[in-house]
Amino acid sequence: MTIKRHIKNIKLAAAGKQKIEWAERSMPVLRLIRERFKKEKPLRGVNLACCLHVTTETANLMRTLKAGGANVALCASNPLSTQDETASALVKEYGISVFAIHGEDNKTYYRHIHQTLDNKPHITMDDGADLVSTVHKDRAKLIDGILAGTEETTTGVIRLKAMAADGALRFPVIAVNDSKTKHFFDNRYGTGQSTLDGVIRATNMLIAGSTTVIAGYGWCGRGLATRAKGMGANVIVTEVDPVKAIEAVMDGFMVMPMAKAAPMGDLFITVTGDINVVRLEHAKKMKNGAVICNSGHFDAEIELPAMRKAATKRRMVRPNVQEFTFGKKHVCVLAEGRLINLSAAEGHPAMVMDMSFANQALAAEYVMKNHKKLKKQVYGVPEKIDAMIASIKLKSMDIAIDRLTPEQKKYLSSWEMGT
Ligand code: ADE
Repeated sequence: MTIKRHIKNIKLAAAGKQKIEWAERSMPVLRLIRERFKKEKPLRGVNLACCLHVTTETANLMRTLKAGGANVALCASNPLSTQDETASALVKEYGISVFAIHGEDNKTYYRHIHQTLDNKPHITMDDGADLVSTVHKDRAKLIDGILAGTEETTTGVIRLKAMAADGALRFPVIAVNDSKTKHFFDNRYGTGQSTLDGVIRATNMLIAGSTTVIAGYGWCGRGLATRAKGMGANVIVTEVDPVKAIEAVMDGFMVMPMAKAAPMGDLFITVTGDINVVRLEHAKKMKNGAVICNSGHFDAEIELPAMRKAATKRRMVRPNVQEFTFGKKHVCVLAEGRLINLSAAEGHPAMVMDMSFANQALAAEYVMKNHKKLKKQVYGVPEKIDAMIASIKLKSMDIAIDRLTPEQKKYLSSWEMGT
């Protein structure tokens, strides 16, 4: 197979390899799967098109899929998340086709998606459903050859479930995000840490004593609120879902509408998956110097077009920090409203991506074994696989847990026994 590429600089490969190997140290579950894949070749001859953040953790997933016998092509799932040295090492050291350059414009981003789809995939692997939507909109001839797709993130799963409900989805998709070993850990602890990492790398601001406003109290918002509180922030949560709002209250956070939070916050972070959550009307009410960023998948959560139009002045004041002036007041937007954890930092740590990407690798194997049974729907990863990933992860951490005794098993499966 010829290796194709459109990357920044092939000379970055040695630096990239070192970083990929560093991440691998914290990915024991994926390593174990790779060793088995090398022997069993469950993906022999399978063409994979992958649209994921091009990070060191993703590189270890690509190595695993290739070890299983797959022909892999990779593009970025966000124009700002590509690590150029990782892309270079994937091509030169690991023989994988990559189309991704940090900071690529929108046109190049979509050209890279098309080049990745030129691999004529049997399986698509998405983070945000851009491959699936491009196939359905512009590359429908590929559909007959696609056995199934996999999807990494909440936003992508929401899009795909909407397609399935409309009867528009033309091949099955496995929602990796819905695995417990994915969203309980990646979304919560991964986003919690990597988002604050991105904010701090971009601004060097002090979180302690700040008022941090978090929009959205899903798994990402929960993790983020907990970590911000742990660093000494006064946390305000905004929500539209009354149940999630009560949860935030009982977790000890202030809850209020964005309009009320706007003049109170020093730092605003959106993790809702929805559009225009922080709007111009809010930005105008904010304190001088307030910082706004997004850690949701798409750059739609901050009403940037309206803010750009209304600003009397805009200028870059540090890398990833753009200052907007409204009259006498300034607010700063980080990373053009793109996900801050991957734009200004390195995304989630390898320790947590280990489980997410174990789910991806095993979902691809599952597709090859079960595609004939799958309908044009969105499926979860089978619970058995989820539980197995948790068990291997615990073992890798040298943590043992109890087992049910025969008496306990019987008790749990009987309904006659009361007090
Ligand atoms: N999504 C969040 N963090 C990530 C990482 N480190 N690699 C790939 N995708 C991610």
